[in-house]
Amino acid sequence: MSNKLIIFDTTLRDGEQSPGASMTKDEKIRIAKVLEKMRVDVIEAGFAIASVGDFEAVQAVANTIKDATICSLARALDKDIDRAGEALKGANSSRIHTFIATSDIHMKMKLQMTPDQVLDQAVRAVKRAKQYTNDIEFSPEDAGRSDEDFLCRIIEATINAGATTINIPDTVGYNMPHQFGATMKSLIERVPNADKAIFSAHCHNDLGLAVANSLSAVLNGARQVECTINGLGERAGNSALEEVVMAVRTRQDVFDCDSNIDATQILSASRLVSSVTGFIVQPNKAIVGANAFAHEAGIHQDGVLKHRETYEIMRAEDIGWNTNKLVMGKHSGRNAFKARLGELGVEFDSEASLNDAFRRFKELADKKHQIFDEDLQALVSEAQIETHESICLVALKVSSETGEQNSAAITLRIDGKEKSAIAHTSGAVDATFSAINTLVGVKVNLQLYSVSNVTQGTDALGEVNVRLEHNGRIVNGQAADTDIIIASAKAYIHGLNKILIAVDKPHPQI
Ligand code: KIV
Ligand code: ZN
Repeated sequence: MSNKLIIFDTTLRDGEQSPGASMTKDEKIRIAKVLEKMRVDVIEAGFAIASVGDFEAVQAVANTIKDATICSLARALDKDIDRAGEALKGANSSRIHTFIATSDIHMKMKLQMTPDQVLDQAVRAVKRAKQYTNDIEFSPEDAGRSDEDFLCRIIEATINAGATTINIPDTVGYNMPHQFGATMKSLIERVPNADKAIFSAHCHNDLGLAVANSLSAVLNGARQVECTINGLGERAGNSALEEVVMAVRTRQDVFDCDSNIDATQILSASRLVSSVTGFIVQPNKAIVGANAFAHEAGIHQDGVLKHRETYEIMRAEDIGWNTNKLVMGKHSGRNAFKARLGELGVEFDSEASLNDAFRRFKELADKKHQIFDEDLQALVSEAQIETHESICLVALKVSSETGEQNSAAITLRIDGKEKSAIAHTSGAVDATFSAINTLVGVKVNLQLYSVSNVTQGTDALGEVNVRLEHNGRIVNGQAADTDIIIASAKAYIHGLNKILIAVDKPHPQI
């Protein structure tokens, strides 16, 4: 058995199915670039038939990313497979992931099909997908609650039809680790042509067992794990990539395989996904939570100072934590700025965008003496966002006084024209948003508003995330500034800009 564990990241597909986690094409490309740098093997970029936006995102990721296999999901239907094949045309290496449900409850109640009909449809889908690429993944959806004899039959038939990866999803997060591991082992032993495919685990976290189930599958022969950054995904989410990768790497005494992942990229990926989706990482989250390497108890601190391994099983820097290293200051030059961002994986597509980012850096350095890597990343994200916006913030003046109403006077540039408005309400943020609403004239429902600090201290950049709903469509907006009211205004405007872009069709139900 191979000692390589394939990491299949589905942040851009299953992760995006999480309510409120929708991403634009540009955001997907930014995340895909970090995943590529992290050396993820397969990136599931979306569900090409779901909407025009999904199709274009899969296509854009396929055209941009060259060092990972790009995958699109497709139901076991001709039209889905053709759409996936079309979207993946530009990829260096492409995969079609087709699926159909195999549990009794799904076949009877959802599909209203017999097991034989399901098997025939799965085989037909794999054969059709083979016209587009040799790399075909088949998933018997809800395998975790499917009859094992039927699973053996459909897996054997789909491998004969050309499937090269067989993914076993615990779609509803129902399995226990010992049980999921036993199923994986039994399927690999019982399916006569199992040696012609790689077996994979796709676990949901409804009972908090997604990572445990995935690891149990690996111990029992799976050589691919499907996971997402920060465990994002439907309902309680998927297996967290960072936890799977670090568990396998840290416990090489237990696992006889390892992934190719460059773990030092994990933290940047986690921060980017959190900022794009507005899903904040809990402080005590394993690997990427703010407290994951913090020692509060005196006895622990004492132990770590004497010998780190007394209380630390992993090195923070191996995951990309750099303990807030001071990187630059007001006097740093353009070349040092460019070089440091290069080390952080940020490249500029033109001299103009480098100059713009450097100008922002100088402005920030005037307000904030110490600039950390996190500040640079926030600053560049901001520059990338603003390039495409049709509404821009020109000026904002807010006044707050105890016992008085707050007021916000704002000037925006909307499609090239400057417009101003003033609003008076009980809060500074509320007044700012009301003034923006007056100018933009689009009715939105604010579903989430959160502020977090990018680094430590009262002069830190404040990052604001908003989630806006408009006619059933949900978008996220984010921005950072040393002034949190300005960051709030920019985040709100970022969300509004997304709403004003063409309305996308909804996902089909799966
Ligand atoms: O959870 C699931 O079953 C899925 C499939 C489409 C693989 O996401
Ligand atoms: Zn799933």
